[in-house]
Amino acid sequence: MMHDICQAPVSLEDATLVEEWNGMIRAFLAHGTATPTHLSAVLSGAPQFAMGYAAKGLFSLMMGRKELYVVAREAGEDAIAALAVSGGSARERLWVRALGEWLDGRPSGAIAAMERILAEYPTDTLSAKVSHAIRFILGDGVGMRASIENVLDAHKDHALEGYLYGCHAFTLEETGDYRAAEAVGLKGLELATDDAWGLHAVAHVYDMMARPDAGISLIENNVSAWDHCNNFRYHVWWHKALLHLDRGENDIVLALYDQQIRADKTDDYRDIANATSLLMRLELEGIQVGDRWAELADFAQTRTDDGCLVFADLHYQLALGAAGREDAQAAMSTRFAIDAARQGEMPARVADPGKAALSGLNAFAEGRYDAAFHDLAAARPAMQTIGGSHAQRDVFERMTIDAGIRSGMYDATEALLEDRIARRAGAVDRFAATRLASIQDTRRIPAQ
Ligand SMILES: [Fe+2]
Repeated sequence: MMHDICQAPVSLEDATLVEEWNGMIRAFLAHGTATPTHLSAVLSGAPQFAMGYAAKGLFSLMMGRKELYVVAREAGEDAIAALAVSGGSARERLWVRALGEWLDGRPSGAIAAMERILAEYPTDTLSAKVSHAIRFILGDGVGMRASIENVLDAHKDHALEGYLYGCHAFTLEETGDYRAAEAVGLKGLELATDDAWGLHAVAHVYDMMARPDAGISLIENNVSAWDHCNNFRYHVWWHKALLHLDRGENDIVLALYDQQIRADKTDDYRDIANATSLLMRLELEGIQVGDRWAELADFAQTRTDDGCLVFADLHYQLALGAAGREDAQAAMSTRFAIDAARQGEMPARVADPGKAALSGLNAFAEGRYDAAFHDLAAARPAMQTIGGSHAQRDVFERMTIDAGIRSGMYDATEALLEDRIARRAGAVDRFAATRLASIQDTRRIPAQ
């Protein structure tokens, strides 16, 4: 049997198709636009290649959209049919099983299948990246780090070594080891100059450490690492905007929003999340964002019955609340109540923290800041399980803190701010500094 760039067996019989498959792996690792093109070429040349269909299905589920479950199910059926003909390797059968587990509502089962492959083939960067990506969706930072660290040694002098370091850097950052994350991420970028994920892991470090100058330089000096990307490049622009926001350059933030982040009115949930969370951050700083919410709310109100990811739903609700789409907001709340009563890994996240968080966002949109603070603070301990990064979820943290200040809950809010600073290894960003100062101001007894 032939082996791919991950030094793992692949039941493709033609060296050209293996090259195409390797191209798919490289593009997927780099968040490149060519991933689906390479995958289609592989499947048209090898219609009995089960792992290719499994990849198509798993990649569809990662998009976090209900309608793509249909695509993923069809891919799963094609994969099973292909296995019946070809048999496939143990690795390929585990990929097909991973897709089946996720389709049955058990993304953790998909992770387990990837880890079984990695136990046998620790050089399999592709399976490591899939495990990494699903753990990211489930908010499993600790597991994400352990998974990558288990295969680090096997990636010494590996063709994809740099991409694995990019993943490692991200897990180090998400588990609070900022110095190591910076060093590993920069080392990875030297080895894989198109690794947007690794570059962005270091941008996360600078965000958490309140080092906006370093973050902006990093992004500006490594354009080739991310301008080749699929919609992930909007996310890199979003990171740059966050860093400018921390420097108080709100005009630059708005220009980036209009000219880059929302230049294309896409409806990928990650793009909507970038946009809604940036507009909310600007509003919290007192910036008028005009009618920018409306186009986001137009997309969001078509997603109230989606239910794939609490992370996506909460960002949709930001747009619905800000644009005053009350019917859609209510539809989202009703659907949350229904999903929360169901069994399963994702419904459990709707029950906690989803319901409390959604209720807090609704209260915030209505100006009921005491209720917003109460509900968002209640959701806070479990918020990591909705997935995404600390930087992404920070919009909810900021809303909690501002709701606390607006409702006069100074002691509790100050405790939240101190906890937020501690998670950043003591770094005080502009947001924390201004809110702490605001609390101090309100406590000062006016001179008689
Ligand atoms: Fe990010």
